Amino acid sequence: MEKDKGWNLTTEEPKKQPVTWVYVCVNRRPGAEPSCGERGSDALVPAIEARCRSEGMAVEVAGVPCFGKCAHGPNLRIGGGRFFHGVRADDLDDVIVGIADQSDDA
Ligand code: FES
Repeated sequence: MEKDKGWNLTTEEPKKQPVTWVYVCVNRRPGAEPSCGERGSDALVPAIEARCRSEGMAVEVAGVPCFGKCAHGPNLRIGGGRFFHGVRADDLDDVIVGIADQSDDA
């Protein structure tokens, strides 16, 4: 490591972090425009939280406003990586595998 002008300079790749967050769009837009909240994404937040807990995964799940992918919702994003579209309660197995896969990449 080299020090210069108070900055720590290094050539090491930054370490990837394990997945700690899942973001679920819960935007609700009544009317003709599609939105994740209107398609039931609110229920995904506690369902994913409960499933992660039961799997022993230390993952926080947060409802967020909109990913701009409204036509494909309900949408969620695992950490800063993979998106899932058209997520239903029946898809939680795939979401859990996605979280585990992304964590394995860390
Ligand atoms: S309303 Fe969910 S991505 Fe826009």
